[in-house]
Amino acid sequence: MARVSAGVYTSHVPALGAAMDHGKTAEPPWAPIFAGYEFSRRWMAGHVPDVILLVYNDHANAFGLDLVPTFALGTAARYEPADEGWGARAVPSVMGHPELAAHIAQHCILEDFDLTLVNRMDVDHGLTVPLSLLFGAQLAWPCPVIPLAVNVIQYPVPSGRRCLALGRAIGRAIGSFGPDLNVQVWGTGGMSHQLSGQRAGLINAAFDHDFMDRLIDRPEELVQMSHVELVREAGSEGIELVMWLIARGAMDCALPTVAHRFYHVPASNTAVGHLILEAD
Ligand code: DHB
Ligand code: FE
Repeated sequence: MARVSAGVYTSHVPALGAAMDHGKTAEPPWAPIFAGYEFSRRWMAGHVPDVILLVYNDHANAFGLDLVPTFALGTAARYEPADEGWGARAVPSVMGHPELAAHIAQHCILEDFDLTLVNRMDVDHGLTVPLSLLFGAQLAWPCPVIPLAVNVIQYPVPSGRRCLALGRAIGRAIGSFGPDLNVQVWGTGGMSHQLSGQRAGLINAAFDHDFMDRLIDRPEELVQMSHVELVREAGSEGIELVMWLIARGAMDCALPTVAHRFYHVPASNTAVGHLILEAD
């Protein structure tokens, strides 16, 4: 049977993609951030899974106000990096895993989660920056990736409670897939940040540390928070953290091992947070 072996959580700041693409990772202000991912790259080199299910959000590149799916599961065989206005990043195409994606779709929809199935889409920095952070520059990504795009852009966004529950259903789906696959589930976005409006530049480090503490072994506590509270504490784009709850829910492990934990302010206008949790 397939199983979820680990969860990787990371911010997906687009400027980090640009820093990697333009060879600036050793320069200020980026160097301390990339230092925080050095361990992660060594860890990944020894823990390449068979498949990654990557929970992220599209930033009005594949979807826009014409179409706002709450939970969109990629069931395609291949995805291209999106052109976000300055040309697509020169990173490899993303190979999907249609068989496992179709199984997750069937399992979750029959468990009453109304997923949208996407057979064609481009993937933006929400998905490609985490791959670059963890794998570095590659000619081909080392494993297939199933994208799960969550609407955290256009109100109303899904609650943390719904996200944790969906993650748990995804974990059951993966655990009931016949082939013996090692699957990682990645949650991206966050940490606290607000990109526009009166509170632009908001960072709440105390909130971020507490969120990471509780994500590890008390994720149920985090879902008590309403989305208004989450936006108040973490900023309008900090709502992206609900995606970490999907990834955490998919790992059926009450007390995971913390392989790595990193936090840094600032990156662009954002607090960067990163966790690697290993299932028992
Ligand atoms: C920025 C954009 C993001 O999507 C994000 O999650 C963090 C930061 C930015 O433009 O700086
Ligand atoms: Fe984002």
